[in-house]
Parts: sequence; structure tokens; C-alpha cells
Amino acid sequence: MLSQNEIVAIPTETVYGLAANALNIGAVLKIFEAKNRPHFDPLIVHIGNKADIDRYVLYVPVTAQKLMDAFWPGPLTLVLPKKEIVPDLVTSGLPEVAIRMPNHPLTLELLRLLPFPLAAPSANPFGYISPTTAKHVEEQLGDKIPYILDGGPANIGVESTIVRFEDEKVIVLRLGGIPVEEIEKIVGKVEVQVNQNINPIAPGQLSSHYAPRKPFYVGDIADLLNEFKDKKIGLINFGKALYSNTSWQWNLSPEADLHDAAKNLFRILREADTSDVDVIIAGYVPDEGLGKAINDRLKRGNYKL
Ligand code: TXA
Ligand code: MG
Repeated sequence: MLSQNEIVAIPTETVYGLAANALNIGAVLKIFEAKNRPHFDPLIVHIGNKADIDRYVLYVPVTAQKLMDAFWPGPLTLVLPKKEIVPDLVTSGLPEVAIRMPNHPLTLELLRLLPFPLAAPSANPFGYISPTTAKHVEEQLGDKIPYILDGGPANIGVESTIVRFEDEKVIVLRLGGIPVEEIEKIVGKVEVQVNQNINPIAPGQLSSHYAPRKPFYVGDIADLLNEFKDKKIGLINFGKALYSNTSWQWNLSPEADLHDAAKNLFRILREADTSDVDVIIAGYVPDEGLGKAINDRLKRGNYKL
């Protein structure tokens, strides 16, 4: 199907992607159409072997090579100057391409069988919560895509960390599955530029993204419970549950484990969004490791921004 320039939903360790031949403009156009995604939002190119990167980028800085060696296959996307073979549509006309080697056995096998790389954004309608199971994809895009490859629930649960380079300097554009602390262990201190609301390089940087459709508020739980005491509240909790006066509660991780919380985040946001509560509230999780990516998603989903 992919060889016939069709789109197929594929599993990755972060979230499900909506994939097509990255080197074929007609195939890539189908992705934008199915997602209702604006053409100014560039796509990530997925490859099955580290060495393939040389086919698509002009050069690999030493720091990028070190990060590839440390984290590929895995949830890290590198933004590097592209070769001509990568269509402008994939990069939205930018001179750089975002590229990663995902860590999922089925998808790695698929990528190694295909004679081309796969462009794949998260398989959700633009701006909505990313899918972490095949069922999530089916529910939202099922009628628009001919095939979903079911590889089970995503292991990491938040999207890849995106980094770009200024010479050897590493700049984080999106917080994600590889924590900044882990990156700094390999290349030293990095710059984090994830909050550009005007003309963002990565629309994952748009302030309202990953958003539930119901009113969603993130902050001090006690204050929020008080503010909405007349409403049917759905509470997204983390760690030991301390609150009892809500209609519904979900827990990102009763054991207060940030990996579990990342894995559960998007599923719980979807469940809360499709439940019959009037308003969803949540508190921030500890702002360290994967917690930074979780808090980033919570903040961008938050109504009040
Ligand atoms: O974990 C992930 O990265 C998932 C899985 C499917 O691989 N993909 C994903 O794709 O999250 P998407 O399209 O939802 O988010 C990709 C982000 C966008 O915010 C996009 O703007 C940014 O990557 N991006 C893509 N190409 C870029 C480029 N050339 N320069 C800067 N940012 C880029
Ligand atoms: Mg996305």
C-alpha cells in the first residue's frame, strides 16, 4: 500500500504516526489532507537505519552524531540541512529536514523493507491529542485511511524530543521522550526554545496544541476544585490520590512514576474528553525528566493560556 503512495497509520514507541512515502509529493499530500494539517507544518522523516541519514541530510554535526549514537533508535528527532531529494512539501519549504529512527520492532522492519523513508506526523486531526493506540487512530481517522498497522500501545506515550543545531550547538525545539537531562549528559548544556508562539518553527510549539475539546484547566488542584465546585469535575491526578469530591478521577500514575504518567497521559486525556464531565482539571507533575514533556503537553492543552 505504501509503495502505491497510499497512507498507512504506523505504530512507534512515542505515538502512532500517519505515514507515506516521504519522497513522493502525491503521497505526502494525502497526509496533510487526512489530518487537515496546514501546509506550513513540516513533517518528520522516519528511517530504518542510522546510516540512511546521509541520503537525506547535507552533513551531520559531531553533536548530532553523538546523540544518534546514544538515542537511536528512539524518541529523538534531529533537524538538519536537507538534501534536494527531500521534497519541499515535507519541510514546508524550510532548508532543514526533521529526521528520526523510531524504536518499534514492526515499524523498523517495515522501514527496512521499503526502498524509501516514511514521512509521518502524529496520526491525529491537527491540534488534537496524539494517538497512543491503534484504536485511537481508528476512532478519529478510520474513515480517511485505508490501513492501520496495530503494534500495541505506545511505550513512551509522548512525542519525540526535537533538536536542531547551530554549528555544534544543540537547541531543543520540542520537549519529548528523551529528557533534556539525558541529552545534556551526552553533549553538555543545551538551549531550550520551546515557547515561541509567533511563527513557530515547530507547531508543537503553538500554545494551543494537544488540546482536549472540553474545558481543561491545569494548576493548583485545590483552587480548581473550589472554582468549579458547582460543575461535574473530572480530575486527572498523579501519585497518591488526595481528593475525593469529584465526579471522576483518572490517575496518570498512582506510584508517581513519570514513565507511567507519560505512557498514560494521552489515553487519559481522551477518556476525560469523551466522558460526561463538564470540566477537566489537572495539576502539573514534577518538572524533571519526562515530567517536563508531560507538563509541556498539559500547559498547551490548558484553556487559560
Ligand atoms: O514522536 C514523534 O515525533 C511522532 C512520531 C509519529 O514519530 N511524530 C510527531 O510528528 O510528533 P508531528 O508532525 O505531530 O510533529 C512534528 C513536529 C512538528 O511540530 C513540526 O513542526 C516539527 O516536528 N518539524 C518538522 N520538520 C521540522 C523542521 N524542518 N524544522 C523544525 N521543526 C520541524
Ligand atoms: Mg502532532
